[in-house]
Amino acid sequence: MTASETRPLTAIRSFPSDFLWGAATAAYQIEGAAAEDGRTPSIWDTFSHTPGKVFEGHTGDVAVDHYHRFREDVGIMSELGLNAYRFSVSWSRVQPTGRGPAVQKGLDFYRALVDELLAAGIEPALTLYHWDLPQELEDAGGWPERATAERFAEYAGIVADALGDRVTRWTTLNEPWCTAFLGYGSGVHAPGRTDQVDSLRAAHHLNLGHGLAVQALRAALPADRQLAVSLNLHEVRPLTDSAEDRDAARRIDAVGNRIWLGPMLDGAYPEDLLADTAHLTDWSFVRDGDTAAVRQPLDLLAVNYYTPTLVSHVAEGAEKPQDDGHGNSEHSPWPGADSVAFHRAPGERTAMGWPVDASALYDLLSRVSAAYPDLPLVISENGAAYEDEVGEDGSVHDPERAAYVHAHLEAVHRALTDGVDVRGYFLWSLLDNFEWAYGYAKRFGAVRVDYDTLERTPKSSALWYGRVARTGELHAPFSD
Ligand code: FCB
Repeated sequence: MTASETRPLTAIRSFPSDFLWGAATAAYQIEGAAAEDGRTPSIWDTFSHTPGKVFEGHTGDVAVDHYHRFREDVGIMSELGLNAYRFSVSWSRVQPTGRGPAVQKGLDFYRALVDELLAAGIEPALTLYHWDLPQELEDAGGWPERATAERFAEYAGIVADALGDRVTRWTTLNEPWCTAFLGYGSGVHAPGRTDQVDSLRAAHHLNLGHGLAVQALRAALPADRQLAVSLNLHEVRPLTDSAEDRDAARRIDAVGNRIWLGPMLDGAYPEDLLADTAHLTDWSFVRDGDTAAVRQPLDLLAVNYYTPTLVSHVAEGAEKPQDDGHGNSEHSPWPGADSVAFHRAPGERTAMGWPVDASALYDLLSRVSAAYPDLPLVISENGAAYEDEVGEDGSVHDPERAAYVHAHLEAVHRALTDGVDVRGYFLWSLLDNFEWAYGYAKRFGAVRVDYDTLERTPKSSALWYGRVARTGELHAPFSD
């Protein structure tokens, strides 16, 4: 039975009764307590402390102090009525150097968090890697090195042994595209390296790390555990229907999407990707047996979606119209796609400058489900940054964020009624937090955080979203 068969969905846009209504966060973006209880620096600690890398020198040292306030944060989710919470584990908090024995205090923190969630009736969904590689592993070469994939599988086993009795939902990697191509290609993310060959090597070792970690998780976890990977799949649209623009879209689909879907789900890298990047590398870092190791049965494919990707072909050396929404760098995060220009569709945009287009989420879900009909989907991130205004009484009315989420949930509902098997939706993000290279300048939270007092205040969008979560019915925001 698929999720969409559990309940009639049409009238007033009802969602299945077992639909997951969650919010998502990531360790470095919210925890703080950067040097407490044995935690050692990750690449994001190093990067954020390097002048010029993050907006106004912001760091995650304190972040929103979730490490000390997690009980309050779980309480907020419970009051809102959410039934799931996606968080990530900080690798260097539980295995400080990325090697060797675990630190019990680090594991205890996540155990306490999970217990608090379970007691509140909120399902924990654990992500093992949301970009915060232990610095010592980067010093040894980072993701371009094969050994990092092996270390990652070992770490997966440690976390599975510690939390496998109580966590059902496991995700290996979050957005490996960002790790590989923003971290090692354009350099706008940690560790800030800019070498296209390294970025492709990183991509392969992330794929391998995923496969080895799934094997380690299966070995350590009870049989009913749900395993997934979170990909920021790009819904790529050609600017025109010309053959050249369609080829530009194909290139971005290859190095944005199929570089992961190919090995993880089909057991091979796409031929066109290998051809597009042949001038950079012969891919000899892919060893015999690697793609078989990467392709492991998954229970869910988790999709992060924010905005569509609009591309055209440009002649070599010609001026390119705009950046791709991933920050400006003279180094491209798109190896094999130098002839591709990125555009932003006219119309509404979020505070990130990202065009708002929920139809692309519908198209993406439809396309992925047609390609992999037996693999259930979950939206592991979707949401928007806006310039929130705080009222005199401290409240935040953010109708734009609610409208964004409403439109995207409508798209999810439309996919469900078509028979696409979508199991849940995680709003990015529960809390305002450290938005990577943008520091604290961009607010994605459903809950406002005052960065001076660390006080939390649910925004009006959170109250609306909580009502949707509690009722399973999608009412228009603020219409009643
Ligand atoms: C995604 C990241 C997440 C957050 C959102 C806005 O790419 O996974 O941590 O930064 O974007």
